[in-house]
Amino acid sequence: MKKEKKLLNTLKGKKYDIPPVWMMRQAGRYMPQYRKIREKYDFMTMCKTPEIACEITLQPIDEFGMDGAILFSDILTVPEAMGMKLEFLEGKGPVFESPLRTREDIEKLSIEGIEERLSYVFDAVKLIRMSLDEDKTLIGFAGAPITLAAYMVEGSSSRNYVYLKSLMYNDTRSFNLMMEKLVNALIVYYKGQVENGAEVLMLFDTFAGIFSPADYKRYVFPFVKKLVENLKNNHPETPLIYFPKGAGGFYNLLTELNVDGMGIDWFSSLTDADQKLEGKFVLQGNLDPVVLFADYQVIERETKRVLEEGRKLKKGHIFNLGHGILPQTPVDSVKKMLGVIRARNFS
Ligand code: CP3
Repeated sequence: MKKEKKLLNTLKGKKYDIPPVWMMRQAGRYMPQYRKIREKYDFMTMCKTPEIACEITLQPIDEFGMDGAILFSDILTVPEAMGMKLEFLEGKGPVFESPLRTREDIEKLSIEGIEERLSYVFDAVKLIRMSLDEDKTLIGFAGAPITLAAYMVEGSSSRNYVYLKSLMYNDTRSFNLMMEKLVNALIVYYKGQVENGAEVLMLFDTFAGIFSPADYKRYVFPFVKKLVENLKNNHPETPLIYFPKGAGGFYNLLTELNVDGMGIDWFSSLTDADQKLEGKFVLQGNLDPVVLFADYQVIERETKRVLEEGRKLKKGHIFNLGHGILPQTPVDSVKKMLGVIRARNFS
């Protein structure tokens, strides 16, 4: 039988009895192979060395046979390339040395030359595509404008996003300038990935859900829409998946988006999401990542439930977690989940 790119084909409308599967954050600390390399290098060095990024990208493919390989990198490489000094601190996550707080800070963000400053990502993409089996789909990605902005303005992880939202409400013009610059940077960034072999694009909007539906619509959505429209024009053959975490309260608005796939978190059922999204997209998701800390019976029950719902979706299903896999997840639980997915027969 000819080897098929199941993940890519699903996004183009083909349906399979056993859905394609991959996991957000599938290359990471829960894997001993990853930790072994991580002992020797800091995280940004790993991102910036194409051979290492390639090796890590392939680890979950070799270990689990995932249908999708997601480029090993981080969403925050883009603000770094725009001139913001970034560090990943042990136990604290990403930290920007000088968060954006004024109009001047935002005006200083540079897009000029960003393509060269991110060329290490494009080199990694190229190397990965060359090393990857033909039936695996290479997923490129970026962070959505507001998710990047949340880190850039807050400076690190935040509880209430007071700086970000204050800027948005009180100096909307500067906020818009920042969002506009991010959209333009992301267009260039995605272009480099597609030209070097990315076959599907993910847009991670981890913080979409920190806004009321009205604020999301007013302040955030126009930029998502602009970015999506540009990507669809520039790369009509490359499917795009949007992952707006916590967006269940405004799925009706998202029906307007010209994307192929929608990532669903576990706060909505796939069935409900499909209804609210009017069956317009292939849905990706949505097992709660913490289910992988449960006993086998629970993993089996919940995986089957997601599969059953996935099977009834109008456009199709890509099995995934509802957010990234957690660092302490037992590798064996991932194998159990995959066993349930692959054992499935629909007779
Ligand atoms: O999915 C993959 O396997 C590909 C690689 C990938 C990483 N980050 C690697 C990473 C992807 C797609 C991301 C996206 C990302 N990064 C998002 C959006 C998706 C999501 O999970 O919400 C966000 C918000 C970030 C920002 C980020 N990067 C945080 C908050 C952290 C620290 C938290 C943590 O898990 O340590 C990172 C670091 C990071 N990015 C690691 C990895 C493997 C851990 C680095 C380490 O080894 O210490």
